[in-house]
Amino acid sequence: MLVSNRLSLILLIFCGVFGAKTDEIKTISVKTGDCVVLHTGVREINREKQILWLFGAEDPDTLIAEIYKLSISIYDTYEGLKDRLQMDQQTGSLTVRNITTSHSGLYMAQIMNSMTTFKRFSVMVYGPVSLPVIESSSQVSECLISDGGFSSAVMCSAENGPEVSLSWFKGKERLNQTSSPDLSVTLSLPLEIKDRNNDVFHCVAANPVSNKTTQFSFQEHCPLNTG
Ligand SMILES: *[C@@H]1O[C@H](CO)[C@@H](O)[C@H](O)[C@H]1NC(C)=O
Ligand SMILES: *[C@@H]1O[C@H](CO)[C@@H](O)[C@H](O)[C@H]1NC(C)=O
Ligand SMILES: *[C@@H]1O[C@H](CO)[C@@H](O)[C@H](O)[C@H]1NC(C)=O
Repeated sequence: MLVSNRLSLILLIFCGVFGAKTDEIKTISVKTGDCVVLHTGVREINREKQILWLFGAEDPDTLIAEIYKLSISIYDTYEGLKDRLQMDQQTGSLTVRNITTSHSGLYMAQIMNSMTTFKRFSVMVYGPVSLPVIESSSQVSECLISDGGFSSAVMCSAENGPEVSLSWFKGKERLNQTSSPDLSVTLSLPLEIKDRNNDVFHCVAANPVSNKTTQFSFQEHCPLNTG
């Protein structure tokens, strides 16, 4: 019992912990590799209580874990999920370790005692975004020759993915932003600059759980020809 308590404490520290009210879907966004704890809200399981955990990409229609008569069963029903699952002996809460994008979907606890209640979780797993690339296109090299009175478009690109957006920032100010529901395209966003200046611009690729930044400045990308 002491060991189990200590284990739950460790899980609380290292995993994102989430609870949901009955019959309200709680949406959770996590990164691939994260550890997620889905809480039943149950304090202590007795012999009579049965808890089923169901999962599905669209509907929670497949039984993945269960506790009944104080005995836990984890089922090998979903590709690669069984080895990542752990159910808490006292609360029936479900831990998913090292989660991957294929484990995005709906998780539901069906808690059965004298009456049945449900806890639903919509878990969205996102991979890391790619590092934005500033294209050293001909436009950028033009800055070497056409200093003053030119209008240049510096292009920033990044791989698309679920809910990825690409933005140009000057300090905290967002200058422009793009995104596309078509995941097969590469996101590109021009930064329109009228004059050579000393500003530092940031191109940021972001999804709900991560972001990556590449910096652009004339000083760095097209230094003045001093020779
Ligand atoms: C996490 O899952 C990935 C993909 O299945 C696997 O390659 C990796 O070894 C796992 N990492 C750990 C720490 O289990
Ligand atoms: C924002 O980006 C679009 C292309 O995605 C471009 O047509 C537009 O001129 C840009 N706006 C500004 C203010 O830079
Ligand atoms: C990028 O992520 C950091 C945390 O890692 C966050 O503080 C920051 O606001 C994010 N920036 C953008 C533009 O989303």
